[in-house]
Amino acid sequence: MHLHRYEKIWLTVGVLTLIAFIITLGVNAFAMGAQPPSNTQVMDPTKVSQTPPFDQPALKQIGQNNYVANMTAFVFSYAPNRMEVPVGSTVTFNVTSKDVVHGFEIPGTNVNMMIIPGLVNSATHTFTKPGDYLILCNEYCGTGHQLMAAHLIVK
Ligand code: CUA
Repeated sequence: MHLHRYEKIWLTVGVLTLIAFIITLGVNAFAMGAQPPSNTQVMDPTKVSQTPPFDQPALKQIGQNNYVANMTAFVFSYAPNRMEVPVGSTVTFNVTSKDVVHGFEIPGTNVNMMIIPGLVNSATHTFTKPGDYLILCNEYCGTGHQLMAAHLIVK
């Protein structure tokens, strides 16, 4: 079969582009460790109530303006259900599910994650404006789904 000269050139460019792409992807994903940031901590979903820190879900202060909220999601609420932090606080939410897949969204922020049984998902946000921030479930999880919410009071 005879290939036209331009065909050969573009074929070569195509193959080289593909190789460059695969190398870039491989280097980023494996050598540089650029993996999706979530789902790093694994746990037994049937033992959430016995596994620290989720046996005692709570908001904890870890620095002057830094807080960690270790939370559980379950049909149809979150624990803790109501938290309070001063304006300017940075809060890291570590959340796991005790039963089914739930959502964890704080409208007006970039916190929006899926809470999967057996995994701990995390998100961090700095609350610079006072208000009553609603934490809501955006994954359909059963008959009480629309009631599933918690509050973070920033003042
Ligand atoms: Cu939990 Cu919807």
